[in-house]
Amino acid sequence: METTADTQKAGAGTHKAEATQETYNYKVVRQFTIMTIVWGVVGMLVGVIIAAQLVWPQLNVHEWLSFGRLRPLHTNAVIFAFGGSALFATSYYIVQRTCQTRLFGGPLVAFTFWGWQLVIVLAAITFPLGITMGKEYAELEWPIAILIAVVWVAYAIVFFGTIVKRKAKHIYVANWFFGAYILTIAMLHIVNNLAIPVTLFKSYSLYPGTVDAMVQWWYGHNAVGFFLTAAFLGMMYYFVPKQAGRPIFSYRLSIVHFWALISLYMWAGPHHLHYTALPDWVQSLGMVFSLMLLAPSWGGMINGIMTLSGAWHKLRTDPILRFLIVALSFYGLATFEGPMMSIKTVNALSHYTDWTIGHVHGGALGWVAMISIGSLYALIPVLFGKERMYSIKAIEWHFWLSTIGTVMYIVSMWISGVMQGLMWRAVNPDGTLTYNFVETLVQMYPYYFLRFLGGAIFFVGMFFMIWNVWKTIAGTKPVVHTVPQTAH
Ligand code: HEM
Ligand code: HEM
Repeated sequence: METTADTQKAGAGTHKAEATQETYNYKVVRQFTIMTIVWGVVGMLVGVIIAAQLVWPQLNVHEWLSFGRLRPLHTNAVIFAFGGSALFATSYYIVQRTCQTRLFGGPLVAFTFWGWQLVIVLAAITFPLGITMGKEYAELEWPIAILIAVVWVAYAIVFFGTIVKRKAKHIYVANWFFGAYILTIAMLHIVNNLAIPVTLFKSYSLYPGTVDAMVQWWYGHNAVGFFLTAAFLGMMYYFVPKQAGRPIFSYRLSIVHFWALISLYMWAGPHHLHYTALPDWVQSLGMVFSLMLLAPSWGGMINGIMTLSGAWHKLRTDPILRFLIVALSFYGLATFEGPMMSIKTVNALSHYTDWTIGHVHGGALGWVAMISIGSLYALIPVLFGKERMYSIKAIEWHFWLSTIGTVMYIVSMWISGVMQGLMWRAVNPDGTLTYNFVETLVQMYPYYFLRFLGGAIFFVGMFFMIWNVWKTIAGTKPVVHTVPQTAH
């Protein structure tokens, strides 16, 4: 297996390409990189607004801006616009560099960028208007869902076409993760969105009742497993060794945990449907597979963190590396917590409570956002021909604001979630409920305020990034890197 260091060396010269020489396509990587930051800020702003609405309900000023309409806008903006753009950017960069060839597909490449941006804009228009399929994380109505399928197929052609025409013999491990994510998301998206359209803006799912719920959570859980996990592990497998200046800790572990992760994730969806009309044995199956998932998840985390072994001192001086390693720690936290929450008796307490929201943001802010931010800080100077980011101090600030914000968010939700669960199930000696719903809600307010504050702190950190990126790239000319002529 080649190390990322090998491939980086191969294309390290930053010089004008001669007309006859093949160059890497950095334009699309730059476009997606900038849009990652833009959508990150937008998605998190909406997150802060809905967090505020839960503290001050009077902020629901208009139906278009009400909590119910903005919540799907938040989830879609942060997952698909921010996370998706980060994945397009890094997968396109990594696949070119590690395959030592330009992206395959000519105009298809630009189509994936503009097509994806169009999807996002359509989401930003239709959700506030209340146009929705009503399936969580798959809310976009059928014409937009078809557009997503078309863009995604183009993405698959570009990515796998590049792998096919690679000059390097081996397929670097990051590409396996990206490949699995691209194939799986195509399958999940198409199957879950099968629906009968009745008008341009309304359709009904093809599946009946409980089957529909199972298909939805087969989709939903694998969206977590392949979009929010496998793909970001691809990012991790390139940028952690690169930033640490060391090869990945264990090649063997990367193979074992890859196959274990992708085969186990597929079966864990029923843990979202405990104590429902779903057959009991399916719920138990989902629980068992979720418990087994702990092993490959921690395999990936350990492989990433141990890459630093012998170079721990770098954590003291390099805030980018700190972003990456702390992201892995939050990944470890979320993937320990998830299997525990999938145990039926634990889920009986946690389900419907803020504990789930805490778990989500441990993964979303701690893992997804922090690994993306760290990777972008490593990538941006390369794309714009700079030695490093303009201000290391600003990255340092951003790191602390992100870490403190994430911890405040998840700890407040843990406390409110467990309290909520306990209050809901408390009964008097005569069997009546001890608390009514409003009494439990009143207790949540201090924690909702803390969550708002934690989210706002994380959000403020993003402005350090905007300023730093602006200072780094202002006045620079687009960099052209030539593809090496010989395979490595
Ligand atoms: C500034 C940062 C953020 C804030 C303040 C924030 C706030 C919120 C709030 C208030 C909710 C609704 C909770 C509820 O219904 O009780 C929510 C839901 C959600 N957020 Fe965020 N969020 C932030 C960042 C993110 C990021 C970066 C991601 C993903 C990468 C994300 C993913 C989600 C998801 C998936 C849900 C739905 C959870 C569920 O249904 O269980 N959030 N967020
Ligand atoms: C071994 C890994 C994991 C397992 C077994 C797991 C398990 C679970 C369980 C049991 C729930 C609660 C379901 C419910 O009561 O409704 C849940 C919710 C959730 N998890 Fe995880 N989790 C894992 C990792 C992650 C990671 C790394 C992320 C994010 C990056 C994540 C994102 C979510 C989201 C978004 C939800 C909320 C879904 C919804 O109801 O809208 N999970 N997870």
